[in-house]
Amino acid sequence: MSAGATAGRAADPAQEARRRRTFAVISHPDAGKSTLTEALALHAKVISEAGAVHGKAGRRGVVSDWLEMERTRGISITSAALQFAYEDCVINLLDTPGHADFSEDTYRVLSAVDSAVMLLDAAKGLEPQTLKLFDVCRHRGIPVITFINKWDRPGRDALELCDEVQERIGLRPMPLTWPVGESGRFRGVLERSSGEFVGYERTSGGAAIASEQRLSPGEARAEVGADWDRAVEESDLLSASGGDFDAEAFHAATATPVLFGSAVRNFGIGQLLQQLVALAPRPEPRPDVRGRPRELDAPFSAFVFKVQTGMDPSHRDRVAFARVCSGAFERGMVVTHAATGKPFSTKYAQHVFGQQRDTLDLANPGDVVGLVNATALRVGDTLYTGKPAVEYPGIPSFAPEHFAVVSTTDPGRSKQFRRGIEQLSQEGVVQVLRSDKRGDASPVLAAVGPMQFEVAMHRMENEFRAPVRMEQLPYSVVRVLEDDQQRALADGRRSEVLDRADGTPLVLFASEHEMRTTQRLHPELKLSPVVGAQ
Ligand code: G4P
Repeated sequence: MSAGATAGRAADPAQEARRRRTFAVISHPDAGKSTLTEALALHAKVISEAGAVHGKAGRRGVVSDWLEMERTRGISITSAALQFAYEDCVINLLDTPGHADFSEDTYRVLSAVDSAVMLLDAAKGLEPQTLKLFDVCRHRGIPVITFINKWDRPGRDALELCDEVQERIGLRPMPLTWPVGESGRFRGVLERSSGEFVGYERTSGGAAIASEQRLSPGEARAEVGADWDRAVEESDLLSASGGDFDAEAFHAATATPVLFGSAVRNFGIGQLLQQLVALAPRPEPRPDVRGRPRELDAPFSAFVFKVQTGMDPSHRDRVAFARVCSGAFERGMVVTHAATGKPFSTKYAQHVFGQQRDTLDLANPGDVVGLVNATALRVGDTLYTGKPAVEYPGIPSFAPEHFAVVSTTDPGRSKQFRRGIEQLSQEGVVQVLRSDKRGDASPVLAAVGPMQFEVAMHRMENEFRAPVRMEQLPYSVVRVLEDDQQRALADGRRSEVLDRADGTPLVLFASEHEMRTTQRLHPELKLSPVVGAQ
């Protein structure tokens, strides 16, 4: 799976970092993320025929879904990284959950990338999940490349789609290619940098790399006719209205390069890869908790952005995914766990994508290391070797909007229930809130998206064998209670105070209105929005 990307011993991590492109695809479900992943891997020759990494139910191949629930429902909830070599670069594609329900996992994955590809369905344009994911990118200043997919079938007008990107998310579109032939009659693209026509030929079902034909503008005019003329006209229009590529604006995340294609037909995928290599930002020195950037060639350091258990049904293991920030990682090295100061052995380091795992021997800044049996590691933790010691800022946990009280239906399994809840809390599958009033037997689960509850319930029953009952609570607004002494004021008929795993007291309200009413009654109440590490 690593396609030789990490083969050999890296002499210079800073130089290796320059070859890295670490990104995620953000899209609404069904826009074609799994298909695009396959197509990218196919172009990089990781797999010989598209279909091998597809995650949808009923299709062949290795999947990026490893829970049974994911398989049966054909969705991808968990995330990992696909690594492959392309030209002189090493591409790390981090998988983000694809379901409409949002989860914290998605935010965390986006904390570990340097850029994102926003995948749009040509017939649908910007959809709710794309918008939410894009908000996270904006928040983090992540540069975004836009790929307008499914151009092989009827959809919307290309100019109209670009306008939508500009108007709804405020990113100035800078098309690098422009479609020749409206959606549904896709002949190829006008490559705007060279002015040449790149024509695509269909292969059966897009299972292999589509062959490309390059024509000069004169040849294209003779061969393609009116569709070519129209593409040239529209491209000129774009140039006149500020739609030409501007690297600075892209890196500042105020403008987005746009490409057109069809993942299923393998059209435009080569161009996307080339642009990722040419334009996408490479790993930069990451600032530590005190804001001092750690140089790429400093000794090894990484931060954990995701923890997952039960990935391999035959081994009840726990894998922590860490993004390397500086230095070279070599399997077997003993690193320091910054949170505890304790040593951590990396004997079992892996590349993980879907059900496929390879032993990973070497990794460089920008790469993702899967650390097996990582019971001590939590999301946000830093690992490092050598001096100086380093600690990176934690990953912000987003304000949950869904709350449910959970208890086991089998009193004989209460020990397993407690262990399972603790595990899910540590992994960040859900946040676990507790209060003396509710007790340990019925904690409150908090989630960004309700899908997280389903995952939690499924895992409690199948992994920990503790059947649970869940009851949604009528809260939707949460605030941090700044002064612990004010608990009694905040605990009301339609509000409740609970403690987060890190000890922070939170107040849950039924609505914004309820919160305002409580604040009017008790103007001295000190509340603040939920931000910061869990
Ligand atoms: P997701 O991971 O973003 O959820 O999307 P996925 O790749 O599974 O694609 C969703 C559907 O869109 C699939 O069809 C897929 O074949 C189709 N698709 C993806 N890219 C393109 C494209 O460029 N053009 C066209 N026409 N379709 C595309 P499906 O009906 O759900 O599955 P299948 O029966 O085709 O396998």
